[in-house]
Amino acid sequence: MKAVALTRYLPIDDPQSLLDVELPAPNASGHDLLVRVEAISVNPVDTKVRSPKPQVEAQPRVLGYDAAGVVEAVGEAVARFKVGDRVYYAGDITRPGTNSELHLVDERIVGAAPKSLSAAEAAALPLTAITAWELLFQRMPYDSEHGGRGKTLLVIAGAGGVGSIAIQIAKRAGFRVVATASRAETVEWCRRMGADEVVDHRQPLAPQLQALGIEQVDAALNLADTDRYWEVLGELLAPQGHVGLIVEPSGALKIGDPYKAKCIGIHWEMMFARPRFRTADMIEQGRLLDRVAELIDAGELKGTHTQTLGKIDAQTLREAHRRLESGTTIGKVVLAGW
Ligand SMILES: NC(=O)c1ccc[n+]([C@@H]2O[C@H](COP(=O)([O-])OP(=O)(O)OC[C@H]3O[C@@H](n4cnc5c(N)ncnc54)[C@H](OP(=O)(O)O)[C@@H]3O)[C@@H](O)[C@H]2O)c1
Repeated sequence: MKAVALTRYLPIDDPQSLLDVELPAPNASGHDLLVRVEAISVNPVDTKVRSPKPQVEAQPRVLGYDAAGVVEAVGEAVARFKVGDRVYYAGDITRPGTNSELHLVDERIVGAAPKSLSAAEAAALPLTAITAWELLFQRMPYDSEHGGRGKTLLVIAGAGGVGSIAIQIAKRAGFRVVATASRAETVEWCRRMGADEVVDHRQPLAPQLQALGIEQVDAALNLADTDRYWEVLGELLAPQGHVGLIVEPSGALKIGDPYKAKCIGIHWEMMFARPRFRTADMIEQGRLLDRVAELIDAGELKGTHTQTLGKIDAQTLREAHRRLESGTTIGKVVLAGW
């Protein structure tokens, strides 16, 4: 089967950083599905795993997490899917990735793909939807249907992959959503995703919120830079508020006052935690993706795909990584076909 892989961890402008390779097709057993991958999307985690370091792989290492495709074969314990089903998922960081024509994934972290979306549009969603949904509705204490009623949520990095879906599910849950974006096109995108207000994260946040009549927010999702917004969020969050984090801080965070004084809940999301530690409830990730697909098909959520760069090969994938590394993409970048 065709795949895109690395053996060395090189800067993305090096043509050797990602390579076209031919690998043996894997076999499905146990709870695994063998999926014929039709489309993939690229996330910052792909570039973080690929980031330059001296390590060398003896065998080609395939990266990639988001995928949409068709079930080609199933293991003997599979109960949720059958051959021919259209699926989408974000995979498991501890296993070979989705940048290959055929891919093994545990059925419990897989969802039935939205019927109303193409494979390219479906591949844009899983990793970011899992992240936003688990963070807001499973780590933080908000009900997914109406837990945001009467509350204000600040979403830092609203136009990114995670922000684009976070804004939508938060609006649907009833929050007044204030997103952050720093460019005309990202401001416009946040509004299209449903943000009530947009403020600029390159400018001081508090005066911009005050100008909107907002002294404090009930909750905040920091989807960009944990250190940079830590102090200001401690000031902006209301007593008994909640902050959601998804990015590793560069050093120790000061978790005492004002966080302690105000009794602010601090919540981590790591969307690979369930598959990585094979938690007893890992099937919740598959159920969550099924639910997101239903909401997409019902027109309650919109896809976040913004660009398909081309077919899945090393050259196109290097371009996708380069764009992700710029930190300026809007919505999701996808590759489709082989
Ligand atoms: N823990 C987890 O499970 C998990 C899951 C998914 C992602 N992540 C991490 O979360 C981060 C975001 O992921 P993503 O997929 O949403 O990224 P992304 O799509 O690459 O985000 C791009 C957006 O980030 C905004 N941005 C860039 N620098 C910013 C800053 N300093 N402050 C605020 N906004 C900034 C930009 O908006 P403007 O152009 O308007 O400035 C841009 O539109 C990444 O670090 C990723 O690795 C963690």
